[in-house]
Amino acid sequence: MSTPTSDILIIGGGVAGLTLALDVADHLSVTLVRPALDDQGASRWAQGGIAAVLSPDDNLEDHVNDTLIAGDGLCDEEAVRFTVTHGPKAIQWLIDNGVPFTPDPDPAARYPYHLTREGGHNARRIIHADDATGRAVVEALVNKVAAHPRITQRSDLTVLNLLSDHTGRCIGAQGVDSEQRLQALFAQHTVIATGGASGLYRHTTTPAPSSGEGMMMAAELGATLCNLEFQQFHPTCLFDPDGPAFLISEAVRGEGGHLLNEAGQRFMLDLDARAELAPRDIVARAIDAQIQQGTQGHVWLDIRHLGDTAIRHHFPTILAHCASRGMDITRQPIPVVPAAHYSCGGVATNHVGATDVANLYAIGETAYTGLHGANRMASNSLLECLVYARSCAQHLLSLPRSLSQSIVTSNYQASTVQPNAHVDLGALHIMRREMRSVMSQYVSIVRSNQGLAAASKALAGIKAELEGVDKAMSHPESVRLKQAITLAQLTVLAASQRHESRGLHYSIDWPDHCALSGPSKLTLAGSGVAE
Ligand code: SIN
Repeated sequence: MSTPTSDILIIGGGVAGLTLALDVADHLSVTLVRPALDDQGASRWAQGGIAAVLSPDDNLEDHVNDTLIAGDGLCDEEAVRFTVTHGPKAIQWLIDNGVPFTPDPDPAARYPYHLTREGGHNARRIIHADDATGRAVVEALVNKVAAHPRITQRSDLTVLNLLSDHTGRCIGAQGVDSEQRLQALFAQHTVIATGGASGLYRHTTTPAPSSGEGMMMAAELGATLCNLEFQQFHPTCLFDPDGPAFLISEAVRGEGGHLLNEAGQRFMLDLDARAELAPRDIVARAIDAQIQQGTQGHVWLDIRHLGDTAIRHHFPTILAHCASRGMDITRQPIPVVPAAHYSCGGVATNHVGATDVANLYAIGETAYTGLHGANRMASNSLLECLVYARSCAQHLLSLPRSLSQSIVTSNYQASTVQPNAHVDLGALHIMRREMRSVMSQYVSIVRSNQGLAAASKALAGIKAELEGVDKAMSHPESVRLKQAITLAQLTVLAASQRHESRGLHYSIDWPDHCALSGPSKLTLAGSGVAE
């Protein structure tokens, strides 16, 4: 028998992980594993803001309805109501924690902070900190976490797998530290908050996106994964082939930006009554179609008509980044392309983040709560991170301490990883690139039966190649790559099994809605995808 290292082990240091840590740490000991560099993870790069009913002119029912419409019939209405109802309090918590949201410059405004609009929303309900909301939220919370005496931060550890005892309940995680030593962290309750799986694709809106590591670690322990086929492509990533990934926030369209094709025409006007503010799946598909028809590989996002003052005021980060890449967006339209942005699916959880593995929780983009359905509405993601981190915290705090059991730390399945094992890292790098190309070619905005079959075959080939290079999976990088390829295979499987087009899943072979549609569910053991 041994005493657990901590009451709560949180893997992931974005908005979800940081919020949970702060909410429980006055009463429970917390170990928080997060990357050493704050620019990793998607939260920090979320520009637009957080959707919540804050203005006296808005109402909860409208936010619920807009979310259901964007989700194209596949949202869990109870999860939507739960999230929307808890939104305003979650925002107040951020304000109380010092997040510097942008005030409304209008002295007559009925809400003190400026609210912007984004696709799918019928009202101004996005609170933001200029055009760098994620950064402002992460920075405020990181400072609080650093000052908290009961939160132990581990930025030296790359977690590779979760640990379970003989009953199957999760007892912690195992990883490799910066000195290449294998380490186990034990905890009464383990929470994964490791982000989504956009890193399975070649072009993404974040510079260092995760590839669904947390989803796979949970699946390896037996957790159910839902709706993997609904990968969101943000319509407007900066087209900058030689530069880093950079998002052009949907708030740019919310404040009046126009999408133009190669001929300079506003193509969204003919396609949807909401034009540039239609939900993301619709806008991304329309842009993709324009790019296929054209020659330049992108469309334009034009905000020149908003005027210099408004552009500088609303979008200082975007203006500065584009200037650093030689583009003056007050004088020229911005070249944009869709890019992988957000995973609407993930580890199946309930409204307190509990998975179907005992003592294992998932929150944030890693989790599937039912909120997003077939397509996430803009700025509902940080909202989901906050609301479910806080409900998970309430749940963990409510558990009777007397029931907390000691953890048997001696008979877990130790990893076979040998951190210093020799492996051809260059070959692994090429395989990861190949996997991303396959996913981008066949499993992105428009899909087909033939393409999905080709993806399935190609991914199996890459996995076999990996096993040829490191059969024992002795190197940490091999383990991570195998997890990514397996998640890609599960995504292809989920897409192949959906015989309809809905939200973010569009198939030329199944162009219509299926009346009997529901969320897809997969377990690793039941999937037939070889581990
Ligand atoms: C954006 O600013 O467009 C990204 C925010 C989000 O994905 O909700």
